[in-house]
Amino acid sequence: MTDTAKRQKYLPVPLALMCLTQELPVDVYWCLHQGAEPVLLRGQNIEIADDEFPRLLESGVETVYIPRDQGEVFQKHLQDNVRGILDNQDIPIDQRMSFLNSTGRTMLQEVFRSDNLDKTLDSVSVLSEHMTSLISQNEVVASELFDVLQHDYHTYTHSYNVASYAMLLAQEVGIRDKDELQRISMGGLLHDLGKLRIPNHILTKKERLSEAEWQTIQRHPTDGFIALAQRPDVTFDQLMMVYQHHEKLDGSGYPVGVDGDEIHVLARICTVVDIFEALTSNRPYRNPNTTKEALEILDQMAPTKLDGDMVKCWKALMLK
Ligand SMILES: [Fe+2]
Ligand SMILES: [Fe+2]
Repeated sequence: MTDTAKRQKYLPVPLALMCLTQELPVDVYWCLHQGAEPVLLRGQNIEIADDEFPRLLESGVETVYIPRDQGEVFQKHLQDNVRGILDNQDIPIDQRMSFLNSTGRTMLQEVFRSDNLDKTLDSVSVLSEHMTSLISQNEVVASELFDVLQHDYHTYTHSYNVASYAMLLAQEVGIRDKDELQRISMGGLLHDLGKLRIPNHILTKKERLSEAEWQTIQRHPTDGFIALAQRPDVTFDQLMMVYQHHEKLDGSGYPVGVDGDEIHVLARICTVVDIFEALTSNRPYRNPNTTKEALEILDQMAPTKLDGDMVKCWKALMLK
């Protein structure tokens, strides 16, 4: 079965997600080897032995498949169970972070693909609530969070990571109000919404971008801002994270080139973690930088282009 045919029929799901829930309202398939037709592993609502999926995970299986037409049922099932799993102190924090990461990425992937703004905002709001309670109610070490995250180039992965980092950095600079942290998380999830309109071949281009392609890239903060500006459920702070996250303190950024204090404090937070995330993620055109290299690059950009205090705080967090 070709990869495209498989993708059309089945939704890949991290097996780790299955390990944390008991009964599953969906059929679970797996591939015996790469390129093979998925075969049924467990029919829906059939009881699963506690150790069945963890054993499979230990044997190296990372991904299972569910029929694409059961995707919504699965989403709903996860959403119904997320709270209980995240609040369960018996599950180690790294496993809960990893679970939320898988759930969140799957959720974002689906809604970003749906191109439906209502649906996107609903999901992003629910997800930011979960992220806030997990991060604000537990001692989350930034480097441990870094280890459980994926570091690929997909916009849904990048957005999830930026939102997580933005919350940690916001806490470090003294923001403790839970509602504000949730708004920051939601702003992080939405910051690159405008990128969803950029053709993939431009985002993944290995060669130097043409002037027209670069202009297309530079439109994304404005496109995101325009899409969200009229929404009553999006705040001014969040809009500024979307609109100003590529602005630089010396005025050399885009889309406007505003400088200094004209850049909103939450946009500055977003900028620092956005650059860090981009540098440490795998891109089709280059290998990821190590944490140390990425922090050095941030250091070189501060305080001329980036807020020096924010960079200092982010370094302190990552090196803890
Ligand atoms: Fe961006
Ligand atoms: Fe970004």
